Amino acid sequence: MSIENTFLKVQGLSKSYKTDAPPVFEGINFEIERGEFVCIIGHSGCGKTTILNVLAGLEEASSGTAIMLGKHIEGPSLERGVVFQGHALMPWMSVLQNVCFAVKSKYPNWSKPQIIDHAKKYLALVGLVNAENKKPSELSGGMKQRVGIARAFAIEPKMLLLDEPFGALDALTRGVIQDELLKICKQTHQTVFMITHDVDEAILLSDKILLMSNGPNARIAEIVINTLPKGRKRASMHHDSMYYPMRNHLVDFLVNRSKDLQMKGAKGELDGYSPVIVLPGIDTPEM
Ligand SMILES: Nc1ncnc2c1ncn2[C@@H]1O[C@H](COP(=O)(O)OP(=O)(O)OP(=O)(O)O)[C@@H](O)[C@H]1O
Ligand SMILES: [Mg+2]
Repeated sequence: MSIENTFLKVQGLSKSYKTDAPPVFEGINFEIERGEFVCIIGHSGCGKTTILNVLAGLEEASSGTAIMLGKHIEGPSLERGVVFQGHALMPWMSVLQNVCFAVKSKYPNWSKPQIIDHAKKYLALVGLVNAENKKPSELSGGMKQRVGIARAFAIEPKMLLLDEPFGALDALTRGVIQDELLKICKQTHQTVFMITHDVDEAILLSDKILLMSNGPNARIAEIVINTLPKGRKRASMHHDSMYYPMRNHLVDFLVNRSKDLQMKGAKGELDGYSPVIVLPGIDTPEM
């Protein structure tokens, strides 16, 4: 596939915050196809948020490129909607104003009622209709996060970048919003890059999962293809014969393999390394 046809292509990405310390991550290569739902998992501090910020155009990589639809990502764009790990709402604006502000930036020619209608549709989706006039300081952590989700969805971006978007939600709300996210993504063929620490969330939502080794010198160690059939349901997916091979593979990586690769990387033994592509339960190579 040529670069122009690839939705997103990340090549040779590395990031160093300090010149006298090893890079946080290096040699990061992966692609995302249009309509794909990609999750990234790795231990705290390996650089997931930094990669997401590079894709958002909010952070510059030390080397390497990120190309979306044939164009280098060089700054923020309304083509990409971001849900931040912290909610990043504007504290002086109400819930509704926070979402409307984003909608107006994306659709500057829309009338005020049109903007409000659109914003309310997405606030309803995350169950916040009754909180629309509240300020962020009056909301719980989970509610703030839901406003961030509504705001990112409301600009109808070509790519959604989600940094642990459900981390502060209780299990019930989390489940409802996961289902909504799946529904919207199916309807709109939304392309998503999502950071999560929750392996079950990744199995439920993703088409493929990028596994990062520990930092510093972190890498994308494996690209795991989700072998569970589409149309997964939270309540029943653990009955699928592919569920445990998939889950065990991800947990084994986090518990064991993520460290081994970090040590090899730190010794400079991974030059020209390419991530292994794994289909758990179908074709699981010895690691
Ligand atoms: N602005 C910065 N200046 C210096 N170091 C930074 C900066 N931002 C991040 N780092 C460092 O880079 C590393 C990766 O940070 P990052 O936030 O990308 O990790 P993460 O994988 O998202 O972790 P978590 O799962 O805890 O959110 C960490 O060691 C962090 O301390
Ligand atoms: Mg992070």
